Amino acid sequence: MKSVEPRLAREWLRRWDAQQERYVADREARFATIGRVVAHALRDVADPLILDLGCGPGSLSARMAGRLPAAEIVGVDVDPLLLALARGGHPDAARFVEADLGVPGWSALLGLSRKADAAMSTTALHYLPPDVLAQVYLELAGQLRPGGIFVNADNLYDEQPTIADLAAAVRRSSAAQHNEDWGSWWRAVAEEPALAELLAEREALLGHGADHRVPVSVHADLLRRAGFSEVGTVWQVGDDTILVAVR
Ligand SMILES: C[S@@+](CC[C@H](N)C(=O)[O-])C[C@H]1O[C@@H](n2cnc3c(N)ncnc32)[C@H](O)[C@@H]1O
Repeated sequence: MKSVEPRLAREWLRRWDAQQERYVADREARFATIGRVVAHALRDVADPLILDLGCGPGSLSARMAGRLPAAEIVGVDVDPLLLALARGGHPDAARFVEADLGVPGWSALLGLSRKADAAMSTTALHYLPPDVLAQVYLELAGQLRPGGIFVNADNLYDEQPTIADLAAAVRRSSAAQHNEDWGSWWRAVAEEPALAELLAEREALLGHGADHRVPVSVHADLLRRAGFSEVGTVWQVGDDTILVAVR
């Protein structure tokens, strides 16, 4: 399993977190809220198993490991470079596994020995169109124990254009607009010789992702159809939303 040297990984992770704050207003508040939700839902579970879907370089897994040190956390992502940064920068936080959520059967690659108590995701599932999300939610439902929860934090949209525009304006007003952007971060990675091999692997594997702007109501509908009994928003700032579903 590939990993980046810890000091170098931590440097790139710090820069990643700043870059993501350009798109996610008060990202640490979002992480802290996910932590509170998961900790409360699992308050009676001594050694919970928690999945992080689209974990990237492990920012949320690491914060959850800090909040729930007894938890076993499994992060899954399709990007070999971001996973190698996660393993190097957060070696004790989680087990980081490469799998494409868009390919049915991804959960078999996670090496799980039991059903998970919770799954979480942040700024990741917008890459998936509704038909793929439907499959992902169905497969996820099969991996969560009854009463387990799924927490999806993302910029989730309203179907009404004026409301969506106002919500986006609220988010933008408190996001770190002057931080480095996504393109600049990846261009800087391309200048780093120690990451060249991982970048080539990534480029051979992945196309360019897009935001499918799936409305929050569609997420809720797909989750209910996949077998989740309750679905609702527990936190929202503009269109930055934390949606929780109960298995
Ligand atoms: C914007 S990043 C967010 C990463 C991390 N959750 C964070 O907040 O720092 C989106 C992540 O979703 C992952 N992703 C996109 N499509 C995916 C797929 N089909 N399967 C697994 N991961 C995927 C990307 O590789 C990337 O790591």
